[in-house]
Amino acid sequence: MPNPPLGNLTPDEFLAKYWQKKPLLIRNAVAQFDWLPELADLIELAGRDDVESRLVEYKRGVWSCDAGPFRPARFRRLGESDWTVLVQNVNHHVPFANALLQRFNFIPQVRLDDLMISYAPAGGSVGPHFDSYDVFLLQVGGKKRWRISSQNDLQLVADAPLKILERFEPEEEWVLEHGDMLYLPPKFAHEGVALESGMTWSVGFRAPTAQELGGAFLDFLRDRIELDGIYADPDLAVTQEPGRVPADFTQRIQAMLAGIRWDEDTVREFLGGYFSEPKSHVFYDGPDDLPNEKAFARSVEKQGVVLDLKTVMLYDDARIYINGDSLDVEPAAHPTLHRLANERALPPAKYPTNVIKALLACYECGYLHLTEKQAE
Ligand code: SIN
Ligand code: CO
Repeated sequence: MPNPPLGNLTPDEFLAKYWQKKPLLIRNAVAQFDWLPELADLIELAGRDDVESRLVEYKRGVWSCDAGPFRPARFRRLGESDWTVLVQNVNHHVPFANALLQRFNFIPQVRLDDLMISYAPAGGSVGPHFDSYDVFLLQVGGKKRWRISSQNDLQLVADAPLKILERFEPEEEWVLEHGDMLYLPPKFAHEGVALESGMTWSVGFRAPTAQELGGAFLDFLRDRIELDGIYADPDLAVTQEPGRVPADFTQRIQAMLAGIRWDEDTVREFLGGYFSEPKSHVFYDGPDDLPNEKAFARSVEKQGVVLDLKTVMLYDDARIYINGDSLDVEPAAHPTLHRLANERALPPAKYPTNVIKALLACYECGYLHLTEKQAE
């Protein structure tokens, strides 16, 4: 497993003492960067329509927040300070960003959301706010002053285009320098202000609300329930109140609806699909030429495979899920595919036909690539 960026703490210690409990500052959490973007690289990403980006400005006491994609000229019109550009899901486009996320593999991937990168000149900030996320805020270049608060008052400024706390009562503050990282549990109030231009790389872990999950689960159930029968009342008695809904009408229908059932396996299947589902702007490019199974097996033997940077692959005891679908694959192939989900790659080797069939199905959809042909 890649080395967790937790300083002197072990993952066990971090999870027991800090995760979802209290903030933690880790100095020099990440020492080596194989990719150090310039502002121009972020501007390029923020110009793409398959990349989610935002530009936050604070001018004369007024917050504004625009959604990308942005033309490069938009950035030339910005002032010297007081703005922040934020680019979501950088891990979908940059192998190093994806590799950095693997260093958080001590947390199940089903909890992981993305790596967002923000850039701000000195003075730039997105204001005091809270997130519904567990987040690791990694400083890359420059310096940023973070102030945080455990306050329960999470009242937001009405009508602001982004979440800004009405009142912010900071309790602690730190200046983060290159490589330092701050962990914050969900709903912890915070504000970062750039002291020197630089970036914040946010590794976010999603914590969905019960309401969001309930709605999505009902959508899932709607597509799969099969209820038998039709309303019947052969014992109907004469009514004196034709406008009233009879009690036994309600009871019979309640009995019919009781046929909507689910168990742990239903929930498991729902969440495997739901948490591996790609976001709406994510697309996969399959190869132009499809090899036959034998030729593909030979290539895998020579090269191995690697998941596309945008692929989410999860599994449980019963199924394997990839990008919102469950894979139709023989149980004998499961251990190899579990390895693929855990390591995001399989080394060159001769794999059995059941594995090759599953890999080929994913290859055709652009969910994985032969290793030397890593996408983007
Ligand atoms: C930022 O990148 O400046 C904001 C990140 C956050 O506060 O969540
Ligand atoms: Co935040």
